[in-house]
Amino acid sequence: MAHKKQTLGEFIIENQSSFKYSSGELSSLLNSIRLAAKIVNHEVNKAGLVDIIGAAGDTNIQGEDQQKLDVYANDKFIQTLTKRNIVCGIASEEEDDFITINSQDENHQNKYVVLIDPLDGSSNIDVNVSVGTIFSIYRRITPVGTPVQLEDFLQKGSKQVAAGYVVYGTSTMLVYTTGDGVNGFTLNPAIGSFYLSHPEMEFPEDGNIYSVNEGNYTHFPQGVKDYIKYCQKEEEDRPYTSRYIGSLVSDFHRNMIKGGIYLYPQSSKNPKGKLRLLYECNPMAFLAEQANGKSSDGFTRTLDVEPTELHERVPFICGSKNMVEKAEEFMRNA
Ligand code: AHG
Ligand code: MN
Ligand code: MN
Ligand code: MN
Repeated sequence: MAHKKQTLGEFIIENQSSFKYSSGELSSLLNSIRLAAKIVNHEVNKAGLVDIIGAAGDTNIQGEDQQKLDVYANDKFIQTLTKRNIVCGIASEEEDDFITINSQDENHQNKYVVLIDPLDGSSNIDVNVSVGTIFSIYRRITPVGTPVQLEDFLQKGSKQVAAGYVVYGTSTMLVYTTGDGVNGFTLNPAIGSFYLSHPEMEFPEDGNIYSVNEGNYTHFPQGVKDYIKYCQKEEEDRPYTSRYIGSLVSDFHRNMIKGGIYLYPQSSKNPKGKLRLLYECNPMAFLAEQANGKSSDGFTRTLDVEPTELHERVPFICGSKNMVEKAEEFMRNA
């Protein structure tokens, strides 16, 4: 493999000519995410050893108990992203409102907004199952020199300039796109560097894994129920294999490598689904499309949804192209 020894730092510099806008700034922003990922990784790896697991005592805007590592990861990503004069605002699952960041000269010169799910799959922490971080990056649309506004965060997913995730798994990986394909980097913990291990990642067009929380089956729309029955049917290459970790990042990562579909549909309990559009679904949808996969709510492309609120939820169907199209067919015909 030609790129075997390439580090993430080298890769970012070598590929910055493909960035749509000012390359140095986005490179620097990606480097801050790389740094925060290493810091959080260090803490996640120690979770079973120190008294950091367990609820922190607060509840976030979604009504979930915040785990200590949720709060830790949130703080570290915000601190790291704030230090360089690149980001003008951050929105996070763990913050009710977006955070305004002012540049050192107090003149709101920074151009990028970042949306993050600092720790995804946090209910898996105390059982030693993989968790992740998801990030999404946009250029602000309000004028530089003025404070960042809500509308800078409520952009359609198709406007993302970069997105990615970190998976703290058996190995820690950082996977990202700047709109020119998807590349995956594995952390060598002995050296503290990420190395390009998965160049040009792509979803296989077809797959045989379906990932859905089937405990919610009776509450799903008819089209989703029909599709699940199709996955289970003894016919052609089916039944498919059912795999559900309960960490979106890990479920997505496995499906991208092996071929599969992930579904978190609306249900009578959660009429808009559970996953958050801005910092869970959009970044994953951008990665999926860049990796030859597909993402929708069953009818509308995820990246075309006009956001209306920071923490809004959408039904999410994402993965191998032919599998997503099949699920959409069942939704249309239900
Ligand atoms: P988070 O831990 O960031 O709040 O995200 C939880 C999400 C996602 O990671 C996962 O795929 C999904 O919730 C699991 O939900 P269920 O337990 O309802 O299946
Ligand atoms: Mn949460
Ligand atoms: Mn999440
Ligand atoms: Mn989270």
